[in-house]
Amino acid sequence: MSPLDFAAVESVKPALGRLKDRVALVTGVARPRGVGAAIARLFAREGAAVCVTDMVPEVRARAAEIEAAGGRALAIEADLTKWPAVEKMTAGIIASLGRIDILVNVAGKSVPPRPAFSDMSLEYFDMVMDRNLRTAVHCCKAVLPEMLGRNYGKIVNIGSTTGVVGVYRHCAAYAASKGALTAFGKALALEVGVHNINVNTIMPSDIDTGDAPWKPGDPARDLGLYAAHLAPAIPRPVRSEEVAELALFLAGDESRAVTGASYLIDAGVTLVEGMVSGPQ
Ligand SMILES: NC(=O)c1ccc[n+]([C@@H]2O[C@H](COP(=O)([O-])OP(=O)(O)OC[C@H]3O[C@@H](n4cnc5c(N)ncnc54)[C@H](O)[C@@H]3O)[C@@H](O)[C@H]2O)c1
Repeated sequence: MSPLDFAAVESVKPALGRLKDRVALVTGVARPRGVGAAIARLFAREGAAVCVTDMVPEVRARAAEIEAAGGRALAIEADLTKWPAVEKMTAGIIASLGRIDILVNVAGKSVPPRPAFSDMSLEYFDMVMDRNLRTAVHCCKAVLPEMLGRNYGKIVNIGSTTGVVGVYRHCAAYAASKGALTAFGKALALEVGVHNINVNTIMPSDIDTGDAPWKPGDPARDLGLYAAHLAPAIPRPVRSEEVAELALFLAGDESRAVTGASYLIDAGVTLVEGMVSGPQ
């Protein structure tokens, strides 16, 4: 993201230091307009030291941008489906920064191709489950011992509307992985609440991350194409920065009594009866 775009995000609200002195680990932070990058930038603006991780090297550019904007960031390239890599990553963060206060599990797989179930290979199913569920389970397992030892922790999982409602055809594997992630978060919240650790899930609908058929800055196209196949109450896609604002609430102390919750952020798309199917 260019410094200009960073300023656009900053213009939403002045930074209030809501994560001052916190150490956050955010996964899935390679793509400039992705959800992970938006969360990492906002958390850094709010005072957190942000460890950003992804399986692709572009994550280093995201950390460099945060540092250039005056934040603190550490980039780690790791395939989070591999337990030894996750163990090594968290041990390294704790050794250099002392602790991990906040974990945001963003890493996942949401983009096409989405095969019909009858055409879907079992290898595809395993890959989607690994990327969306196993990555988060690994990260939770790795950070929890240290959080439990300090009786403090905030875990935020990025699920999806597809984990609770149909929305699209041809997303059985993705829906299964995201539904499981939401259920996992609730069960984990029940176990760790006594240790002052909150676990919550954000369930977005389509997010404008640059891959969608609409083009930002073209309102007619936005409304036409988006409304044509999804018809949300608020006729536009959700933006990565808006998901980040909700993640900030759940990572901050204002949400201390909130745990095991699952929040839709979907512009009201799941309110609408008789949705027309998206592109097949
Ligand atoms: N984009 C949407 O419309 C949308 C809607 C609902 C939910 N979501 C969810 O939000 C999250 C972010 O979405 P996005 O569109 O920004 O996605 P994205 O593809 O930009 O980001 C996901 C990142 O996760 C990384 N990743 C995948 N597998 C990994 C692994 N094994 N180890 C480490 N990193 C890995 C990818 O490299 C990628 O950078 C995802 O979990 C996605 O499922 C997205």
